Amino acid sequence: MTRPVVRVVGSVNLDIVARAPALPRPGETVIGASLERHPGGKGANQALALARLGAEVRLWARTGDDAFADEALALLKAEGVDLSEVVRLADAHTGVALIGVDPAGENQILVASGANARMRPEDLPTEIPEALLCQLECPLEVVAEAVRRARGFVALNLAPFALLPSECLQRADLLVLNEIEAEALGDQVAQAGGAVAITLGAEGACMLRGGRQTARVRPPAVRVVDTTGAGDVFTAARMMSLLEGLDDPGALRFACAAAALSATRPGAQPACPTRREVEALLSGDAT
Ligand code: RIB
Repeated sequence: MTRPVVRVVGSVNLDIVARAPALPRPGETVIGASLERHPGGKGANQALALARLGAEVRLWARTGDDAFADEALALLKAEGVDLSEVVRLADAHTGVALIGVDPAGENQILVASGANARMRPEDLPTEIPEALLCQLECPLEVVAEAVRRARGFVALNLAPFALLPSECLQRADLLVLNEIEAEALGDQVAQAGGAVAITLGAEGACMLRGGRQTARVRPPAVRVVDTTGAGDVFTAARMMSLLEGLDDPGALRFACAAAALSATRPGAQPACPTRREVEALLSGDAT
């Protein structure tokens, strides 16, 4: 089978993770956390997840010209993602996400966007012939312009939530959002031009077309360690399975299994599963 080719326009972060006995409430200090650093950022996470699932991936992004950039791009490089359109800006820092994770795997994330906020629509390629995947962790005008320049399949993950021009939602072949984002989008969910995948946390996910549910799937039972990046893996797997022509129930099962696997491991990118691991879980062979 030919490998789908995907251009991801999105963010790159270095994730600084404190695994803590509890997440702090506003004004509270929690001690006793352990520290980890991982490559992250929704764009980079989704690019890596697609590559591990078998796609050929190009990333269009911005980082600082600093040591964080090397660390943030290391797994993408190792996985063979094309980074020739990642520009290092001398006067900005690489994006950083400060992440707290509690013992149940729940997280809180603060993002200092740095170079991600410096993407400019005029710098995009004049045409995007490959399948396009964007998230909303970079300037919205960049996402809107990338969608305008796309000539093939378009997937949008509306996270972190923001309102995009309605022509983007109409143009998208796939929208991925969580329950809260779906609620915020309101009637526009039913008016979306393509398929809409809504993640439902521990309940799994559902798929809508023209406002009507076409599939609903519960995820495989797993021991959750860290949910950071599970939505990114879900988005990448859902896009991959649509590009490969799976029907809605099959594609949703594949995406839920990939996301569930990612939640069993710490970190966003280190937790992205390979295609073989997802297929093993689906066939009941996972250990
Ligand atoms: O979706 C998870 C990602 O959100 C993390 O990797 C972090 O960088 C934030 O962007």
